[in-house]
Amino acid sequence: MQVMTEQRSQPQADDNFVVTKEYRRFAEFCHACRRERYIGLCYGVPGVGKTLSAKNLAKWYLFEKVITEGVYFTGLPPSLVEEVKTCRIALYTPPVANSPALVARQVYGVLSDFSSYVEMAIHFEDEGWLKQPEIDYCQLLIVDEADRLSTSSLEQVRDIYDKGQMGLVLIGMPGLEKRLARYPQLYSRIGFAHEFKILSQAEIIFLLERHLHQLGFKLQEGEFADAEALAAIIRITNGNFRLLNRLLTQIKRVMEINQLGYITKEVVETARDCLVIGTI
Ligand SMILES: Nc1ncnc2c1ncn2[C@@H]1O[C@H](COP(=O)(O)OP(=O)(O)OP(=O)(O)O)[C@@H](O)[C@H]1O
Ligand SMILES: [Mg+2]
Repeated sequence: MQVMTEQRSQPQADDNFVVTKEYRRFAEFCHACRRERYIGLCYGVPGVGKTLSAKNLAKWYLFEKVITEGVYFTGLPPSLVEEVKTCRIALYTPPVANSPALVARQVYGVLSDFSSYVEMAIHFEDEGWLKQPEIDYCQLLIVDEADRLSTSSLEQVRDIYDKGQMGLVLIGMPGLEKRLARYPQLYSRIGFAHEFKILSQAEIIFLLERHLHQLGFKLQEGEFADAEALAAIIRITNGNFRLLNRLLTQIKRVMEINQLGYITKEVVETARDCLVIGTI
């Protein structure tokens, strides 16, 4: 275990994270699974924001280094200690190739590191914080990329859930719910299913204003040459966060190269042609 004292390495929340309607629905779903200690299933197409939402909900930026790199912070400022104290959600992403033994080892590792870290924050002022936690602080385990789990690894996760006191949320692609229906023991424990949906039109417009501002553009009335440009962005991105980010980066590039001050439908379409993936 290394000891980290450098202040500049302190973890920070992602400032660019936007609290969308889908994020709120996802958070409510996760809290229900945590409260009822159920298994919940969350599925959605790639790029809608499932992983980022889970990380944000769990405040995983506080734990990422601790858990993946085994780094413990000694110089925690009081503000961070207070945040860590209240965390009760842990996140686990299985590797592409996984065996039940590996999954068991890794999940128990994450749960134990998580509880130790929360315990350390709770007893920050005391002397004895390095001892093993007596309480399991994790009340909800979120398993991202659950499609990767083989049948026996899924069984292993169910076993960990059965033996523990926490809720469990499995995140995956659409179709995961159908795959799990083939395992009656696991399926019978699923209390809630939740589809992570794409962004609504109103949210895309809201995000565009925000993003363009962040990218250094000012969006004023009439800056879009016509409503066609906006409509083109909505059509091309189809409510997909990842695609929206990529398209905006390309739009910025096209505008800089051509020294343009406003966005037209042609700019949007040129930017779309530069995208390698996901154009619809
Ligand atoms: N709430 C959000 N605020 C800001 N950006 C977001 C948000 N949600 C998603 N994004 C952007 O969209 C990208 C894709 O999000 P994310 O990786 O969470 O999608 P995903 O649904 O997990 O996709 P996959 O199924 O491929 O794993 C992020 O890298 C980020 O740039
Ligand atoms: Mg993801």
